[in-house]
Amino acid sequence: MNPAPETLQSASSASAAHSPTPEAVSRIAGRFLQEALAVAAEGGVPGGPAMPVAPAPSLPPLPSLPTATAGAPVPSMPLPAATPIGIALPAAAYSSQPPAADLSGLKAFVGRIRGLDHLQMPAVLTPSSVDSLRAATGRPGGGLSLPGMFDVNAVRRDFPILQERVNGKPLAWFDNAATTQKPQAVIDALSSFYAHDNSNIHRGAHTLAARATDAYEHSRQTVQRFLGAASPDEIIFVRGCTEGINLVANILAPSFERGDEIVLTELEHHANIVPWQMVAARTGAVIRVAPIDDRGDVILEAYESLLGPRTKIVSLSHASNSLGTILPVELMTALAKARGARVLVDGAQSVSHFPVDVRRIGCDFYVFSGHKIFGPTGIGAVFATAEAQAALPPWQGGGNMIRDVTFAHTTYADPPAKFEAGTPNIADAIGMGAALDYVVQRGREQIAAYEHELLHYATGRLTAIDGLRLIGTAREKVGVLSFVIPGHDVVEIGKRLDREGIAVRAGHHCAQPSLRHFGVEATVRPSLAFYNTHAEIDRLADAVAAMARGRL
Ligand SMILES: Cc1ncc(COP(=O)(O)O)c(C=O)c1O
Repeated sequence: MNPAPETLQSASSASAAHSPTPEAVSRIAGRFLQEALAVAAEGGVPGGPAMPVAPAPSLPPLPSLPTATAGAPVPSMPLPAATPIGIALPAAAYSSQPPAADLSGLKAFVGRIRGLDHLQMPAVLTPSSVDSLRAATGRPGGGLSLPGMFDVNAVRRDFPILQERVNGKPLAWFDNAATTQKPQAVIDALSSFYAHDNSNIHRGAHTLAARATDAYEHSRQTVQRFLGAASPDEIIFVRGCTEGINLVANILAPSFERGDEIVLTELEHHANIVPWQMVAARTGAVIRVAPIDDRGDVILEAYESLLGPRTKIVSLSHASNSLGTILPVELMTALAKARGARVLVDGAQSVSHFPVDVRRIGCDFYVFSGHKIFGPTGIGAVFATAEAQAALPPWQGGGNMIRDVTFAHTTYADPPAKFEAGTPNIADAIGMGAALDYVVQRGREQIAAYEHELLHYATGRLTAIDGLRLIGTAREKVGVLSFVIPGHDVVEIGKRLDREGIAVRAGHHCAQPSLRHFGVEATVRPSLAFYNTHAEIDRLADAVAAMARGRL
């Protein structure tokens, strides 16, 4: 049985209805921009007659921006806050009429750019308009940096490693989907912990134990706020995303029966495939896979048709590490929850790029790795609802996770300690908290908007190269640009770029099924972060173009 809501025509129409189209948002943004520019030119106040609609942009429309996290500081990015990622509410997804666009972000945007009346602000940022903005701000070599806007040069100064030279050239780090570089604030938090506070936590009666415990628990609160969880008790520290998914798979496994179903998507990282295969082998559960289309978007009708009364868990990426696709996780979660399934969202590739709110998504579990969000390796977090934590058994046994032990019987500590057996990775949990604080301080909306623009610019530059095939052209993407150039070995391309000081990944990116959909086994994968610049993208594109012409 597949109890689709009456008004739901098809999963794809639901997806189309969930929010204003990017084209509409671009149009509205252009209109507000024109209005603001006109007002700025006249020194007046907007609110008069409607301005003409801006012409269609020459580049693809700006993809939608995610929504702000509840409780996060108010962002000040003067770019339009456009459509939310996913859907606002299941009810909206089932409606046949698109909900009205929320224009408050655009209105705020107009307010902000009134202060920029000395600039010729274009309706839509394109490579050429970015160039003129860059010229206007007198920073031709760096990233776009306008008053009140995201200042990439300031960000870069916080990351000492970005001053490195590789093979005599300035390092251009485009391997961010694999791991990110660390700001000084994180390096300082780690060294300060070891220099001043190092102790085991929770059980000591001495001062350093109290300091270390406070710092560790403070970090848990930071993760809670960062994800929009209801309580710090909903945050479990783990080694990273892989361990987080294994934890969830293992605590769910005892409730699986033969024939129960685990739903994944074709986009998943091996970390979100193999643990479920192991659980399936142990329990007799069956794995079902939602396919993607040739852009790299999940086919929502097919996904919906996989859901049924035997679906026990849906486990899906928020963003794909091989193609960059951002999945409509709110919609997909709502559809799964309507069938009584639990939902895990793998946030490895999302948290560093745009705001995430787990309560808005409605998932049971959300996992991410610290090292992919400017924090240390060997640390990550699982958000698990209080209900799920209370209902499910622990995974690993040992110290810290118990209330009382006899040889006959053990009772367990309350969550989240119940899921944190043994001495945790204290220093790196604190370092991860510092990384999240850094991201919040830089502005999550600002980061998202800056990276959107950077992705558009990089997409334009790379797709202009003769013979280059971009793999993954989903409507909503994070800054992942997988490509091949027929006749050129991907590893060889990676090595030649390294000679130019440019670091990219070349291989299968631990997501073989997603690449095989496109008939390839490996790609070159530059992946962006908020410290990358247009000048670095120019270096990358120039080097790839020279290679494609056989000149490098
Ligand atoms: C989408 C996705 N999920 C899971 C992982 C695994 O993360 P980690 O190796 O940090 O555990 C990765 C790593 O690249 C990833 O990109």
